[in-house]
Amino acid sequence: MPSVYIKTYGCQMNERDSEAVAAQLVAKGYSLAASEHVADVVLLNTCSVRDNAEQTALNKMTNVISDARKQRPNQIFGFLGCMAQSRGKELIDRLPDVDLVLGTQKFHRAAEYLNDLLGGKRNKVVDTEAEQGSEGTIKEHLLNGAAKDKAVTAFVSIMQGCNQYCTFCIVPYTRGEERSRTIPDIVAECRQLVAQGVKEITLLGQIVTSYGRRRPVTPSLSPSDGERVAKPSEGIVPLKDGKSAFVQLIEAVHEIEGLERIRFTSPHPKGYGDDLVAAYARLPKLVESAHLPVQSGSDRVLKLMHRGYTRARYLEIIRKLRAARPGIGITSDIIVGFPGETEADFEETLSLCREVEFDNAYLFKYSQRKDTPAASMPDQLPEPLIEERHARLLELINTIGKRRYEAFIGRQTQILVEGPSRRNEARMAGRTRCNKIVVFGGSARHRGELLDVKITRVGSFTLYGDPAIVNL
Ligand code: 5AD
Repeated sequence: MPSVYIKTYGCQMNERDSEAVAAQLVAKGYSLAASEHVADVVLLNTCSVRDNAEQTALNKMTNVISDARKQRPNQIFGFLGCMAQSRGKELIDRLPDVDLVLGTQKFHRAAEYLNDLLGGKRNKVVDTEAEQGSEGTIKEHLLNGAAKDKAVTAFVSIMQGCNQYCTFCIVPYTRGEERSRTIPDIVAECRQLVAQGVKEITLLGQIVTSYGRRRPVTPSLSPSDGERVAKPSEGIVPLKDGKSAFVQLIEAVHEIEGLERIRFTSPHPKGYGDDLVAAYARLPKLVESAHLPVQSGSDRVLKLMHRGYTRARYLEIIRKLRAARPGIGITSDIIVGFPGETEADFEETLSLCREVEFDNAYLFKYSQRKDTPAASMPDQLPEPLIEERHARLLELINTIGKRRYEAFIGRQTQILVEGPSRRNEARMAGRTRCNKIVVFGGSARHRGELLDVKITRVGSFTLYGDPAIVNL
């Protein structure tokens, strides 16, 4: 049977899509190869959020192909996901050895197309069509993955697409309109995972806080004229007792016996209504962790970005979350160098970071994306200025992060043990409820356990602990 190697670029949604494709192929008899050098099929699941991510995948494919020409003449090559969606056939025009280009609503067709390509029934396949119901196709899991150990944590895709149309962002064009799965469908998948030993579930989507707010519209991958907000009665899951569809979903997942922890990503700050804040206070399995992408601290820039909140509103959400769950871990995404960003705007971002004190933040240098409104805005900033601001902000984020991590020294905290540490296989690693990695000297038998550890020291965005000295 053929073997496949899948390399994933980008976000957790992409990781999840790749896992579903791998599970689908394994179910059809494929084996998973350890590298591109020994695989019959090489698939790159791509990211389009920044130009950098696209170039990395294009370079990788170029290298894999030139290497294969000499040694593996029959190897099959495919691009999946966001760049496949946005560039389509152009990818084959550019790299004629590529056999498959599969868009973001077509992951479930991978096995069928690969069988045809391997069997010589087709020569090339480009499929980037929209497909009704595709939001419900990312379901298969690979719980006994490469590590051959049972998975402790799992990701569950609850929706696809985004209708926010932030002016910098390509995602609405690569992922299509918001389409949500139903609560019973999602809960059934979660139940099955828990029955197989999963203790922590992360609910995934491009904008999870908009879950269930829209009637499934005819899926389209073309830009709409701005955001179409559904009236509560129009959404597939109407408001119930003042609770949004997303909060209702969290409540339903929360009821699953044996499940210990619930996380979600990515939310949008505008979705943090009082019902969601109250859910943090009410639902113990919803861990005290929030990834709240702020993008900028300047109201002027936030408006240009079409983010739909102000600095003051963002700070209010943070205040309410911290009141509901003291100790909540808060992380963010920030874009540096959005068109027209002045020194004063940038300083507002710095001051917001000082005010919030993020545990960590992912910094993105602004990248012009095809057909997005921001790409044609005046005053695109020069690269050196973006680099300089990026370095200043990175230093601040690292300083604040270090301080927040150091505050854990001497404290006892609960972790869920996930497996061997990535950096040092001889040690084990787990995560706190507030989403910090803890490395400790445990053994494989701790895997899947909720364990109390005492934090002894910190590294770069890592805590080191010791279970042995607990209760002393
Ligand atoms: N340039 C730079 N960063 C971007 N992001 C999205 N689009 C762009 C862009 N054009 C960042 C945002 C988002 C994260 C996933 O990627 O910060 O939250």
